[in-house]
Amino acid sequence: MGDAFQKVREELNRMGGTVASCPFRTRFHIMPPVGWLNDPNGLCQFRGVFHAYFQYSPLNVHGGGGYWGHCVSRDLLTWDYQEPVLAADTEEDKSGVYSGSALVEDGRMYLFYTGNVKQPGDYDYIDAGRISTQLLVESEDGQAMSAKEKLLGMEDYPEDVTQHVRDPKVWKENGAYHMILGARFRAWDGEGRRRDQGGALLYVSPDKHHWRLEGELTSQKDFGYMWECPDLFSLEGRRVLSFCPQGLASEPERFQNLYQSGYSLLEEGADPEDTFVEWDMGFDFYAPQTFEADDGRRILIGWSGMPDMEQSHRNLSVEHGWQHCLTLPAELVFREGRIFRMPVRELDELGWEPAEAEQGMYRWENKAVKLRMWEIGGEEQEIRIGAGENALVIHVSQDRTELSFRMPDGRIAPCGGGRDRRVGRAGKPVEQLLVLVDSSIAEVFVNDGELVFTTRIYLEPEERELWVKGTGKWKLEVI
Ligand code: FRU
Repeated sequence: MGDAFQKVREELNRMGGTVASCPFRTRFHIMPPVGWLNDPNGLCQFRGVFHAYFQYSPLNVHGGGGYWGHCVSRDLLTWDYQEPVLAADTEEDKSGVYSGSALVEDGRMYLFYTGNVKQPGDYDYIDAGRISTQLLVESEDGQAMSAKEKLLGMEDYPEDVTQHVRDPKVWKENGAYHMILGARFRAWDGEGRRRDQGGALLYVSPDKHHWRLEGELTSQKDFGYMWECPDLFSLEGRRVLSFCPQGLASEPERFQNLYQSGYSLLEEGADPEDTFVEWDMGFDFYAPQTFEADDGRRILIGWSGMPDMEQSHRNLSVEHGWQHCLTLPAELVFREGRIFRMPVRELDELGWEPAEAEQGMYRWENKAVKLRMWEIGGEEQEIRIGAGENALVIHVSQDRTELSFRMPDGRIAPCGGGRDRRVGRAGKPVEQLLVLVDSSIAEVFVNDGELVFTTRIYLEPEERELWVKGTGKWKLEVI
């Protein structure tokens, strides 16, 4: 067991320097100390300190899992990296310590996660060959974990569910503990063809150890074959289901990524499909998780990445020994019938300095950039991040925002690593914009967080220019 953690130390010794000197390294965004990172896990505030765990493949920059990484912070922006807390080292989780969540109670941390097992052989890993077990570990300090306790196994899931059952999110409500799990249900269409249906399983427990099936949540419509990373919470009196449906057909201005992530408002009698809104319209966003901070804020962090994309969306950090990062922690608020998402207020407290852009151009090099625009009134604005044609162009007009790496001759700018174009529409003309660039990640918040676009961008420091063109008022700050 110790051996699995020793291997990570050795890899850090070997590659840590390369990662640390990478020009694409982020400053405020959680990134892997070495190797690959995906979903945020176990987000919580524990004894005043914020803990973020993440799906971690330190030994393979192309993923494959194996660990839960760990970092801690007092301000949600400066993170101290700790040793991993979980490794795939038992019978139940030997192929992966998959995603999960934290529950803090009476000064103790409880981490719920999925142990994945893929049996060797010629299996489809949907109906056969996979074992999904829900496990629990406990901790006094967020770092040292108790032995792993099995909570639910294949024998505990309903008959019509495939072997894909994972990503427990656990919370306490009205004196009982509740768990929601992502699931893939076996289903057939009218012609008898297999057409699986995504959904969620709901379990309830009096003591966090014994769980009973309480219900199922799914869509009566055709809404994806699998729902990953479900999260169920209340926001200003609304019941919100956040989840990642896989298998939705792409539309010109909706569902533009391979897999989707969004939320539905669970109103009486409404189907989750009816109210579904995507969390993010950019290229790189998936598997978000929320938690409630001690001050009552509902904070969301997503993975700024996407599974199964390595052919088309390259991350140029791979040559430097690492890949992917998490998004800025963002506060959720309910407004105008939907959820708005803006970076946590701690961001403004970092000590930003005003920057002068001469004729609309600023060279940001190794600085992080915060550009605010207002009084846009739906008029055309263009923000260009990059040098010459090797750039990301953010274009706003009326209710429409577009992020594009397409150069005038139709080719894709190298700094996008294969990313092309994304479009999103706000419910009203664009009035405000906030653009944040931290090295290789750009996040664009439209109309105070009504729409958000997250994308990775790979510019060498000497290519890091920012151009602003438009009629809106604007202010640039750097740090
Ligand atoms: C989402 C996901 C989860 C799973 C984890 C494995 O990106 O596929 O469903 O638990 O990643 O790393």
